Amino acid sequence: MTERNLPAGEDVQLRPAQLRDVWAIHRLERSCFQRDAWPWIDIFAVLLFPETVRLKAVAENKVVGFVVGDRRRRQGLGWIATLGVHQDYRRRGIGRRLLEACERELDTRRVRLTLRRSNHIAMDLYKSAGYTPVETWKRYYRDGEDGIVMEKLQRSVSTEIRPSFDQ
Ligand SMILES: CC(C)(COP(=O)(O)OP(=O)(O)OC[C@H]1O[C@@H](n2cnc3c(N)ncnc32)[C@H](O)[C@@H]1OP(=O)(O)O)[C@@H](O)C(=O)NCCC(=O)NCCS
Repeated sequence: MTERNLPAGEDVQLRPAQLRDVWAIHRLERSCFQRDAWPWIDIFAVLLFPETVRLKAVAENKVVGFVVGDRRRRQGLGWIATLGVHQDYRRRGIGRRLLEACERELDTRRVRLTLRRSNHIAMDLYKSAGYTPVETWKRYYRDGEDGIVMEKLQRSVSTEIRPSFDQ
């Protein structure tokens, strides 16, 4: 399906992901990351851990995007562990919305993530969202490609609970 045949005005909603989303997210993860995809058991685990932020983007009753954030509150640090949008739904702002919502939910002073050196699309997204490269993890990926660690400092963090998804 292309953007053209999405019903006019179709809404994309961000919501907390739940245990029942495990297979939908697993399929999406495989289509987004192929060789780097998490096994289903890891997805199952992040859907259970209390300190993990997990949000899904829903359109036409389907999970079309997801993000996972790992909060290490004592270090004031959050990690964006994975972010993916179904290829038929890309380039319409869903990735950016998921990223921003996850940052807000993490509510940590620093947010970090890792990506393949060759992933220029994600690099563009992260740079435009305020991330800068801070480290290179040599041969981090299984096929030997380097991982680039990027970091963003969040200006305002609070201790309040501020849901950033649609309620
Ligand atoms: C990276 C990804 C999540 C972006 O999702 P998306 O919903 O298409 O992104 P958005 O529409 O919000 O675009 C945000 C920005 O990303 C960049 N971007 C997205 N698609 C791009 C493309 N095809 N070419 C160049 N830049 C692109 C742009 O900077 C864009 O901002 P702009 O629209 O103002 O120019 C998506 O491409 C994806 O799932 N890729 C495979 C998985 C992956 O690589 N995840 C990140 C791993 S760390």
